[in-house]
Formats: sequence, C-alpha cells, structure tokens
Amino acid sequence: PYMIAALGFGYLLGSIPFGYLLTRWAGLGDVRSIGSGNIGATNVLRTGNKKLAAATLIADALKGTIAVLVAARFGPDTAILAGFGAFIGHLFPVWLKFKGGKGVATYLGVLIGLAPWVALAFVAVWIVTALVFRFSSLAALVAAVVVPALLWYLGWSQISQLFAVMSLITILKHHHNISRLLAGTESRIGAKG
Ligand code: G3P
Repeated sequence: PYMIAALGFGYLLGSIPFGYLLTRWAGLGDVRSIGSGNIGATNVLRTGNKKLAAATLIADALKGTIAVLVAARFGPDTAILAGFGAFIGHLFPVWLKFKGGKGVATYLGVLIGLAPWVALAFVAVWIVTALVFRFSSLAALVAAVVVPALLWYLGWSQISQLFAVMSLITILKHHHNISRLLAGTESRIGAKG
C-alpha cells in the first residue's frame, strides 16, 4: 500500500502543470498555443518572460524533488516510486487530458532528490551543450543519455535503471524536437515562436 500511495502522491504532485498555470496567471494566455506548444520552461521563455520561465523550471523541478524527499521517509524504494510518479504526472497530467510536458525539469528534480551530485553533472552537461548549440532540446537529450550511463558507471544499478527508463520516455517525448533538429528547423533558446 505504501508503494501505491507513493506512486499516487508523486503523480498528483507531478501533474500540476506549472508552466501552463503560471503563464495563464500572468495573463499571457495558453502556453500550448505558442512555440512548440509544450508546457515546459523552454516554451514559457518563448512568451518573452524570463522570470516566468525560471519560475516554471524551478517549480517543475521541485515537484520531483519534494515527491522524492517526502517519500524517502518511508524508505528508498518508496522514494524512487514517488519520483517516478512525479515524472509521469508531469508528462501525463489528468488535468490537461494527459497531454503534459517532456519531463526535463521534473527529471532533474527527481535526480536532485535521489543523487544530487549526478544532478550537478546533468546541469553541467545541459549548460555546456546549450552554450555550444543553443538548443534546449538537444541539451536535454544529451543530458538524458549521460545520466543513466553515469549512474551505472558509479554502480548505482537500481537508480540507473530508473533513470534509463525515464530518459527513454523523455527522449520519445522529444520526437518532434529530434525531427526538427535533424531538419535544421529547431528553434534556438531565446528565439520566439
Ligand atoms: O524541456 C523541453 C525542451 O527540451 C524542449 O522544449 O519547447 O523546445 O519543445 P521545446
């Protein structure tokens, strides 16, 4: 029962679509109708409001971190399930007819809760890739490949399996981005529309 409760608690927290809510509350309309149509921080940035984008990134990440840290009181397996629940909640929120985000910020948040040092590696890889190529999606894709490999290398097999699954899901959710990257039509960070 703890396990199901952890998954459900994580899901409920993760399903709060902060990018959508914050943009609405700021009077900027429905973020799903601009840019990539995604509810994540990258697309909120396309409204031109940097603070709102930063708030979205932080709030979407915190969902994952809080889910993990609260559930960790009941043991490591519970923490993992709550983190996974938060990630799935962000991607498939019941409130938006299960059409949620791509999971990058929440992935990072779960990683902060479970393996903070590896979360720093995620941030470093993301920033370096973003600085070189200026694509948020590519930076996330590279980080999503590096993280499970690094966890596996460190010998954290259970957590590495969790993040391998989450990376796979997040990469699949980026399929439009991948097509655009290959076609040379992906929008750069900071560019509107
Ligand atoms: O976090 C999602 C990011 O990797 C891509 O976002 O809006 O460019 O599809 P977007």
